[in-house]
Amino acid sequence: MKILGIETSCDETSAGIIQVDEKTLSITLLSNIVATSLTLHAKTGGIIPEMAAREQIKYILPVIHEALKKADITSKELDSIAVTCGPGLIGSLLVGVETARTLSILWNKPLIPINHLFGHIYANFIQSDKKIPQFSDFPAIAVLISGAHTDLVLMENIYKTTWLGGTRDDAAGEAFDKIGRMLGLAYPAGPEIEQIAKNGNPKAFHFPRPLAYDGSFDFSFSGLKTAVLREVEKIEKPGELNENTIADICRCAQDAICDVIISKAISAAQKYNAKMILLGGGVSASKTLFESFQERLIKDGMDTKLFAPARNLSTDNGAMIAAAGYFMNTPLPWQEITADPELYFD
Ligand code: KG4
Ligand code: ZN
Repeated sequence: MKILGIETSCDETSAGIIQVDEKTLSITLLSNIVATSLTLHAKTGGIIPEMAAREQIKYILPVIHEALKKADITSKELDSIAVTCGPGLIGSLLVGVETARTLSILWNKPLIPINHLFGHIYANFIQSDKKIPQFSDFPAIAVLISGAHTDLVLMENIYKTTWLGGTRDDAAGEAFDKIGRMLGLAYPAGPEIEQIAKNGNPKAFHFPRPLAYDGSFDFSFSGLKTAVLREVEKIEKPGELNENTIADICRCAQDAICDVIISKAISAAQKYNAKMILLGGGVSASKTLFESFQERLIKDGMDTKLFAPARNLSTDNGAMIAAAGYFMNTPLPWQEITADPELYFD
């Protein structure tokens, strides 16, 4: 079975094709093309929605064409099309949804509407050496950590999910990006903070870990951001915010963010006897987070399996939407598929 996934919820324009082998229970990535208008946004320090959508209109057809070419198939060989319907920026979502609706009519293919958030979770199973999860692999805790979201979700099985909690203010990735901005780093700052933090002293600053141990599954990162800002403002003399201080701030802020995510996810996994923890979203590209997480599971004597998507599948991409299309295979008539910027977990 071959599925085309289309993703345009934010600044990326992406089309990916996966092949599902139901005999070996595996998903192979045939192609995953991502065009981004990030360099435009890096200059402004954030995304300007109208500019993102205008770029996406230019990219969408060439990106889909390239995905078919790279997968070495024609549209005739596709079994279905999956498209992100939300959440996201309305102008951006419309580009993907309208293109997918048109192609489903032209190519006569079933069209599957996808919640972007589930795409990040199912990205975990795109890899031919990973088995598609079975009922016996659940319950699982999904940890969605992106630029716009921080959520913990209980998955009793593939189809039954319950939202446990999420951020009350900034998302985890947003915290990385805002802290990066204070330090003069380009947007999105998460990957650069991870690199710079390697040279930082973990004891140089003690940043707060808001709500980390309050027993809830809620998150809050705005206090951390303010604490970092206070430290940056204290450094008054030019040249004092030098490479070493920046590395220390990156290290200590990253430790605080990772600590909160790991603590919350582990308490949820313990409460619900989770067999798997599935990380997803841009922040799950952090190797530092994955390694610290794995260490904590070992330290706490837990045998819960930890998964994170391959690095190129952590940030927004079409293949993860195709994977979600396989797991949540509920095609609808094209007239019923619309963009919904506010879509969330049920
Ligand atoms: O999932 P994503 O591509 O877009 C949204 O749906 O929001 O996530 C982007 C976010 C950005 O905030 C970026 O800073 C963060 O993911 N990110 C990271 C890393 N790589 C990307 N954060 C921390 N460490 C990383 N290595
Ligand atoms: Zn995303």
